[in-house]
Amino acid sequence: ADYEEQYRPQIHFTAEKNWINDPNGMVYLDGEYHLFYQHNPLGTDWGNMSWGHAVSEDLFHWEHLSVALFPDDLGAIFSGSAVIDKNNTAGFGENAMIAIYTSAGDKQAQSLAYSTDNGRSFKKYEGNPVIPNPGINDFRDPKVFWHEESEKWIMSLATYNSITFYGSANLLEWTRLSAFEYYEGLPYGVWECPDLISMDYNGEEKWVLIVSTNGAPNGGTGTQYFVGDFDGNEFVPDNASYPLWLDYGKDNYAGVTWSNEPQGRSIFMGWMSNWEYAGQTPASVFRGAMTLPRELFLYTHPDGHLIVGSKIVDEINMISQKEVALFAGQVTNDVSLDLDATDAYELSVSISGFSNSGNILKLQNSNGELVTIGYDMERGALIFDRTESGTSDFSGAFRKSIESPVVFNEEILNLQIIVDQSSVEVFVNGGLSSQTNLVFPEEIYNELVLTGENNSFYADVKFKSLKSVW
Ligand code: FRU
Repeated sequence: ADYEEQYRPQIHFTAEKNWINDPNGMVYLDGEYHLFYQHNPLGTDWGNMSWGHAVSEDLFHWEHLSVALFPDDLGAIFSGSAVIDKNNTAGFGENAMIAIYTSAGDKQAQSLAYSTDNGRSFKKYEGNPVIPNPGINDFRDPKVFWHEESEKWIMSLATYNSITFYGSANLLEWTRLSAFEYYEGLPYGVWECPDLISMDYNGEEKWVLIVSTNGAPNGGTGTQYFVGDFDGNEFVPDNASYPLWLDYGKDNYAGVTWSNEPQGRSIFMGWMSNWEYAGQTPASVFRGAMTLPRELFLYTHPDGHLIVGSKIVDEINMISQKEVALFAGQVTNDVSLDLDATDAYELSVSISGFSNSGNILKLQNSNGELVTIGYDMERGALIFDRTESGTSDFSGAFRKSIESPVVFNEEILNLQIIVDQSSVEVFVNGGLSSQTNLVFPEEIYNELVLTGENNSFYADVKFKSLKSVW
């Protein structure tokens, strides 16, 4: 395949063909990052849910492998995780790759499959399911890790609007430990795709619980998180007076982190869509893509609580071309800059000395398709507008201006903007907040306009072309 169809991302993961949603079973083994994903092998709509599979040495260049798990008697294969069983606790072999997923039959239950050939083939465990359904409809998306201190496997499981934790010595027999439940003040919806991760904050261990849910700040589905502590039994959140989101854009859902990452990084990847319209986005050969891989980090918000920031993993340097200084100076009128944009690119825009709230830049192409990025100083909000971004009539929920909080320097706004054929990812002030948004322009935006017509500010703009990974 040459991956040159219209809208085909050039630096983001897509399947060769057909539908994808959530990333699944992300695990590292022997020099390879494995990415499995919710996949319909038979069409561009959701259905026949299976685990597609790809591997990469650098998280950018992917080799597609054959479908790892097909539906069976117990049902379709819904989301889940994978671990490397270093001590052979399950008895499938030392360093077996073990996938833990939801069997979605009449009732959802958790099942295992294992591989002893680096993920090239999987056998389903004869004792499936390992956790039968206790009588609730939403009971899915197991994410498992080895908890060193208590010497057991911990599973986080989405159970309607709570996350239930289970413990196991061998991945086969599980005991319910506790549940972290919905409380007032959170958006109300079904919780999906949890991930409980240990992170370092200045030498202190903190725990972050990632939960995907309906009720995202800009509508539809998004990824929330809670920072707190975990003692091997229970997750206790720190106080945060408002919901926190890993990404404030419209199109970052069901993401979780890689297991067994060799450098100990928390590398996150999400599905770059929104259930509001995921089934309606333009599709020919393929439908759906993943976000870029991001390293998560903790940071103290000026309000006093910890937040999770994200930055593109350093491996992006593998595809970055030489940085070009595009502009540095005062903007008082519109300044138009041509971008040497073919596959994809990265803009670093640093802005200071605003006179006014309002638009700061536009990205556009010769068909008049464009997105704007503006700043509301009073509300500390970054505003991304994709109403005229390209094809958008497939869903009323798509045409929208999308807001995110600017954390948190009022004097300087640093934007890292990654533009691909059908997405724009914006990282604000070193990734303290981010927005990931789909767009469907006829051709990639190849002109940058610094919009000074109602405004004046100082801008410093750098450009890097990013080379196709296919
Ligand atoms: C999240 C989700 C999961 C489920 C999967 C099914 O997008 O709804 O909860 O396992 O998709 O494809």
